Amino acid sequence: MAVSIKTPEEIAKMRVAGRLAAEVLEMIEPHVAAGVTTGELDAICHRYIVEEQRAIPAPLNYRGFPKSICTSVNHVVCHGIPGDRRLKRGDIVNIDITVIKDGFHGDTSRMFFIGKPPLIAERVTRISRECLWRGIDQVRPGARLGDIGHAIQQHAEGNNCSVVREFCGHGIGRVFHEDPQVLHYGVPGTGVRIEAGMTFTIEPMINAGRRGVKILPDGWTVITKDRSHSAQWEHTILVTPDGCEVLTVADGARD
Ligand code: MF3
Ligand code: CO
Ligand code: CO
Repeated sequence: MAVSIKTPEEIAKMRVAGRLAAEVLEMIEPHVAAGVTTGELDAICHRYIVEEQRAIPAPLNYRGFPKSICTSVNHVVCHGIPGDRRLKRGDIVNIDITVIKDGFHGDTSRMFFIGKPPLIAERVTRISRECLWRGIDQVRPGARLGDIGHAIQQHAEGNNCSVVREFCGHGIGRVFHEDPQVLHYGVPGTGVRIEAGMTFTIEPMINAGRRGVKILPDGWTVITKDRSHSAQWEHTILVTPDGCEVLTVADGARD
């Protein structure tokens, strides 16, 4: 499938959807504390997206996913299902928000700390965030997707972490997951050529231990096989004529 190039009208809608997704993460931050359950965080986000933003939480019923956000704690890599688990001091959690506004998707995730996590957990969180930004720094017309993957892989593996290969970033627009696949590992100068008007996510899942993962019997929750901590940060990116614009930053800050 060819990679779609968004029109100026579509880009305007992507900006709105991206900002809304970022604002959900801002809104939820003070609630992410010891004693709260991931199910409670889901309920707060659901209400905010539906009633305040008049938007749609994209994960709900997506391929059968039962909740409105993903919450992935400690050795959960991604797609954690919110439920009765209570966050406690020392946990790290990724919250992944995707909203649909006016037909377009905005997709972003970040890590939160509950109290002070173990050093190894703090470290993989920092490395995964740096990986995201090293990937973003590669994005400009004429570069290749392999340049993004390579930058991420080098930084992760150069710091004794590993890159999850089973899941990747993705084109995004009217469709939640569209072409291209944005791998978080790769070879520079290879892969799809990046063009202005493309919109896609970069969302490296980085493990403190080995890269192997498995899916729990719920059919969704992805964990590290070795139970090492895993961390992920995600932004939705627009390719511009001279570089890129991060659509899921509320205030232009670099995180
Ligand atoms: N938001 C995730 C992503 O970054 C996808 C979640 S799909 C779900 O692509 F069904 F698990 F919600
Ligand atoms: Co995504
Ligand atoms: Co996401």
